[in-house]
Amino acid sequence: MNLFEQQANEFAGRHIGPDEKETSGMLATIGVRSLDELIDRTIPAAIRSKKPLNIPDPLSEYQYLTSLREIAANNKVFKSYIGQGYYNTIVPSVILRNVFENPGWYTQYTPYQAEISQGRLESLLNFQTMVSDLTGLPLTNASLLDEGTAAAEAMTMFFNLKNKDHDHITTPKFFVDNHIFPQTKDLLLTRAQPVGIQLVTGDYREARLDDSYFGAIIQYPGSDGAIRDYRSFIAQAHAAGAYVVMATDLLALTLLTPPGELGADVAVGSSQRFGVPMGFGGPHAAFFTAKEEFKRSIPGRIIGISIDAQGNRALRMALQTREQHIKREKATSNICTAQALLANMAAMYAVWHGPSGLTTIAKRVSLLTRTLATELEQLGYPVIEQYYFDTIRVRVKDVTAIRSAATARGMNFHYSGLCAGISIDETTSQEDIVNILAVFGQAAGTDLVSATFNEDDTLSNIPSSITRTSQFLTHPVFNTHHSETNMMRYMRSLEVKDLSLNTSMISLGSCTMKLNAATELIPVSWPEFAGLHPFAPADQWKGYGKILTELENWLSEITGFAATSLQPNSGAQGEYAGLLTIRAYHAAHGGAHRDVMLIPISAHGTNPASAVMAGMKVIVVKSDEDGHIDVADLKEKAAQFKDQLAGLMVTYPSTHGVFEESIAEICRTIHDNGGLVYMDGANMNAQVGLTSPGLIGADVCHLNLHKTFAIPHGGGGPGMGPICVIEKLKPFLPTHVNLPTLHFSSNGNGMTAGHQVHAVSAAPFGSASILLISYAYIKMLGVEGLTRATFYAILNANYMKARLEKYYKVLYSGVNGTCAHEFIVDLRPFKASAGIEAEDVAKRLMDYGFHAPTLSFPVPGTIMIEPTESEDKPELDRFCDAMISIYKEIRAIEEGKADKNDNALKNAPHTQQVICADEWKHSYPRSQAAFPLPYVRESKFWPSVARVNNTYGDRNLICTCEPVSSYASAEPVH
Ligand SMILES: Cc1ncc(COP(=O)(O)O)c(C=O)c1O
Repeated sequence: MNLFEQQANEFAGRHIGPDEKETSGMLATIGVRSLDELIDRTIPAAIRSKKPLNIPDPLSEYQYLTSLREIAANNKVFKSYIGQGYYNTIVPSVILRNVFENPGWYTQYTPYQAEISQGRLESLLNFQTMVSDLTGLPLTNASLLDEGTAAAEAMTMFFNLKNKDHDHITTPKFFVDNHIFPQTKDLLLTRAQPVGIQLVTGDYREARLDDSYFGAIIQYPGSDGAIRDYRSFIAQAHAAGAYVVMATDLLALTLLTPPGELGADVAVGSSQRFGVPMGFGGPHAAFFTAKEEFKRSIPGRIIGISIDAQGNRALRMALQTREQHIKREKATSNICTAQALLANMAAMYAVWHGPSGLTTIAKRVSLLTRTLATELEQLGYPVIEQYYFDTIRVRVKDVTAIRSAATARGMNFHYSGLCAGISIDETTSQEDIVNILAVFGQAAGTDLVSATFNEDDTLSNIPSSITRTSQFLTHPVFNTHHSETNMMRYMRSLEVKDLSLNTSMISLGSCTMKLNAATELIPVSWPEFAGLHPFAPADQWKGYGKILTELENWLSEITGFAATSLQPNSGAQGEYAGLLTIRAYHAAHGGAHRDVMLIPISAHGTNPASAVMAGMKVIVVKSDEDGHIDVADLKEKAAQFKDQLAGLMVTYPSTHGVFEESIAEICRTIHDNGGLVYMDGANMNAQVGLTSPGLIGADVCHLNLHKTFAIPHGGGGPGMGPICVIEKLKPFLPTHVNLPTLHFSSNGNGMTAGHQVHAVSAAPFGSASILLISYAYIKMLGVEGLTRATFYAILNANYMKARLEKYYKVLYSGVNGTCAHEFIVDLRPFKASAGIEAEDVAKRLMDYGFHAPTLSFPVPGTIMIEPTESEDKPELDRFCDAMISIYKEIRAIEEGKADKNDNALKNAPHTQQVICADEWKHSYPRSQAAFPLPYVRESKFWPSVARVNNTYGDRNLICTCEPVSSYASAEPVH
């Protein structure tokens, strides 16, 4: 490469850890001569790609950002008054800089390892407290994907509670009030059809619910902005035995009687307007909050309070943390990745403003809306609703005239029939109100408009019978950090409790915790991308259009498929969307009865959960002794269910970290029996550029962009899970009510009437703004860099395997003894020999400054290590040294040199408090506990709590910030 070409190719060298010298040393340890030889030994020749990917040449980081500025200029950021669940908001700079743009927050993993996650757990507990307080309902989860899916989760939760036996559905009906956001209705439709729910739409005032209804949804304030008092409707629904979910708005609830006090069973909504940019659809945190009686059924993750081994307060994920893994096809929700980072931002927004700050914002918004309404009426425009919070609908004679006047002044309204809807938000100023009036004035033939603002006006637009009287956010955390100094320190105090990628490698098998490069992330905050409303007119998002079209094409090329839908906003949503396309395809070809999905026993728990949600029956396929799919069992079951077979869900390379040689035969078997093959793309980091789902014979796959394509994990979200499909599945990709003709290559062509798949996310392109990250990743690596990344993901895993298998048993390898991009270390033998369990090893790794690999998935009692290509040899060596040192600690127990009960593993992790206590009662030295290897002395990461007691927390479920009095009485237990 000549001097001038070097710059464009430099990103690959920065993304990939090992340099040339390290590479040769690593290859020697593995016992192969070259990277090519390693790959030849690992990936079956029959499925190797013969030609390089058709992806453009790479750009340097500088070139990329320069070119992106030009693309960004093609997005027009109008002042949005569209509303409909998405509002302008002011992201407090202190939160933008210290959370949203801070790798200490965005590179965190889901807080399964509670001892090194107390910071984000605390912040998520704040989120839960905030939502519970504002909605008046006690039990909140730590976010869902978006408002529409949250509403659908509530519907299915109610359905499952009222219909235990799905073969005999007794209460199939769900009432949907007219004033629900259209995208929410679209999602309800998607979720209802496969499981046999009947949606009944209408006006809640005329609805007559009987015992065939299991539930109902109403929106407060409604999609038209109106505030309605639903108390008698809720009472009527309860009398009929039905549950009620209320979709609602957190800002409005600072002024309105909360849903819990009105009698609602569940409330859902989006916390976007609490300081999270619209981002053309996301990511934002949805919330789901419920009455106490739903505590065993609520979807998603709940953070709860427990104690640690020292008796100190400690937080952890409660109850259904591993719901799908435990319940699998009996799980009622497939939620895995949610929106933790955005929930943290929204919670911080509430911490920053506090109850009085939020109320002030809400009052200002509502007063501006009222002033606008009054002045519009003066201008001769009737305002339809009498009671509203921030949204009004104005009756107009000529929508086109209003639209063109608004467009000329850089404004977007929401139009329906002969109405213009206007939603005001915290960014709206008095001047903006006058500008809106000017639009209507122009259409009415006058440029003499003005407005009188009187801050002493009462909010007569909010009925007194439904005005909030209860207090909220009384906890000190929401009433302390209002100066920037305090706020900055508060966020930092939480951040340093958590081990993120900016501390050390997080080698989580199946989760692919690779570099999330700063250049990939920076544009996400640019106003041209962050400030767009997802339902803005298409001619205002041409920049996004270019990016999304290119990304779709590249993902189709990488997967070897014909088309891509960017809509699903998590891997599990992708699974669900992919299965719906399969279902719709069968139905359109006379196979509506095809509902059996074969799923290997080793599959991720979301697979069977998604299949059941898509209305399928799960038949489990066995694994053989080597961990591979038992082909004989698969063939037998495929033949047995030949007439009902919908397909197979397969993860490749397998969740055991192996490229199974039989994959082509497996796919053929399914096709021969009338089924289609769904490939779970969670392990795509081992395939890019070397093989593809298309080559192995699959028909549809999802991609976890938050794994392979560099979107950070954010402590449990955001993520994106696009699906890619073969040509014949193209007509069945998800659509969207607000973008009926998705104009991209992948959609809208040849739809078979009656078999359309409705929306799977609230926004047409899911969490569109973070698609920029994957776009940048591909654009800066280019075809060579992408392929090299795969080489190194496999090299790094095999290097670690070669070092560790001298000490530990590594389960499963390919035919030539290599692994793919991850491998499983068996810790089960140590239970009998030393009383040591996998969890002890996971916790002891924290004392060495490392996050544990994936624990007990897919095999209980094991850890699954996935280093990714982004770690260099010294870091891989530090981790291996830690594991080898732990092995020696276990040997010492086995040999009787260390105590079986009082040892460094059983007592791990060791906190500063324990190590520095005046008394040290253990049989091993403090230095071994805290600084077990020399590198740890140089940079020690301290777990902030000792081992967390999970069962204590589940027995005493507390999921909101405790009253301050409880801190005072907390006695350490010794
Ligand atoms: C193999 C596999 N499939 C599916 C998923 C679900 O993806 P998501 O968490 O994005 O919903 C995961 C997540 O870790 C996974 O590892």
